[in-house]
Amino acid sequence: HKRLRRDQDVGVTAAVSEHPPFLSTRRHLYERDFPLYKQPVEVGHFSLDAKRRFFNDDRQLRYYIHPDRHPNFHLRDGYRDRYIKRDEGVKEKLDHLLRWILANKSKVQIQAASSQELNVDVVTWRGHLTKLLTTPYETREGWLLAVTRFRGTLYISEVETEADQRSRESRTQRLEEMMYWGYKFEQYICADGAQNRPDPGGVVNTNEAFCTVIQTRLAGHKLLFSGEVDCRDGDPRAPVAPGCYVELKTSAEICTPKQHSNFLRYKLLKWWAQSFLPGVPRIVAGFRDNDGIVVSVDTFHTSKISQLIKSEENCWKPTVCMNFCAEFLSFAKTVATEDDPEVVYLFSWDPNRDVTYSIHRNSQYTFLTDWGDPNRSD
Ligand code: A3P
Ligand code: MG
Ligand code: MG
Repeated sequence: HKRLRRDQDVGVTAAVSEHPPFLSTRRHLYERDFPLYKQPVEVGHFSLDAKRRFFNDDRQLRYYIHPDRHPNFHLRDGYRDRYIKRDEGVKEKLDHLLRWILANKSKVQIQAASSQELNVDVVTWRGHLTKLLTTPYETREGWLLAVTRFRGTLYISEVETEADQRSRESRTQRLEEMMYWGYKFEQYICADGAQNRPDPGGVVNTNEAFCTVIQTRLAGHKLLFSGEVDCRDGDPRAPVAPGCYVELKTSAEICTPKQHSNFLRYKLLKWWAQSFLPGVPRIVAGFRDNDGIVVSVDTFHTSKISQLIKSEENCWKPTVCMNFCAEFLSFAKTVATEDDPEVVYLFSWDPNRDVTYSIHRNSQYTFLTDWGDPNRSD
């Protein structure tokens, strides 16, 4: 019996073309050579302003201002009176990214004059890919990904699970405030211009965002995805984007060996996945105490994180993350065959389960129909 189960697991890859109803997420299946991942290239960017309006430019890009190694940042400051929070109840799906594509068709379309097809296999948010990368190691939160094939390209848009909605609507005061801390840290570190200073007295508005649009290839999958970027290196000699971008993070200060181990096993996995995908080379982390005071700042180089975790036994492996993601995309390509903006293939995963899917026509999950109209101009 045991042997049979193992054969089935190993057979997943080969059997994909026969439309298996599931994809295993078991780590050992993905422990092979690192797949091809082409150097990510920025093909464009866009901004969302304080009212979450789209602009086809970099007006929201901020500049990294190096802090003291032991700064005195108070992350609770302004939570009550200088905080405008984005409405998390509004589901934007792929909208801003689709708007960017329509405004920049020539950058991504197949060159043939008559072709309406994009020269990419997959369009999605970086955050959705991050979730796929970390799936083999995730033990708490499942996901739902809606996939639609349109003119040959797969569009992947996350759907909030019922569990996620419940925890979002029942967050404690403390958790709600701690979500602010990450943005407050950004305000202490970022300025509007390379020559300017950060303005910790200003308002934190989480509607504002600068997003990079990245093209790359994972194994056989040509990807186009967008992700929010916290700031860039202000040095004019810095590499071109995305090499000049800096990701900012906060984390609880590390006082015990257990906390250090958890940091390597869980935090660094998420940080690495998020920054590796778009080729963001540097992560600047603020370590804070329980009162939201930043006690130290450290830089992590994305390419060195896999070395840092080597000391940790039974830790996560970048190759497992990338191979699983590639395999999921292959699975999605073979499942999502009907080319129709009204059809959604809903992929569903819960910890300790396989990835499964269901098919929905013109349902609550449909997310591309308003965009399928070729005469749409904005
Ligand atoms: P931290 O990551 O420092 O906690 P990002 O780091 O991706 O640029 O996100 C900026 C901040 O948004 C986070 O800062 C955190 O405060 C908040 N945030 C992002 N995703 C979150 C999530 N899933 N739950 C709670 N807070 C989140
Ligand atoms: Mg960010
Ligand atoms: Mg950040």
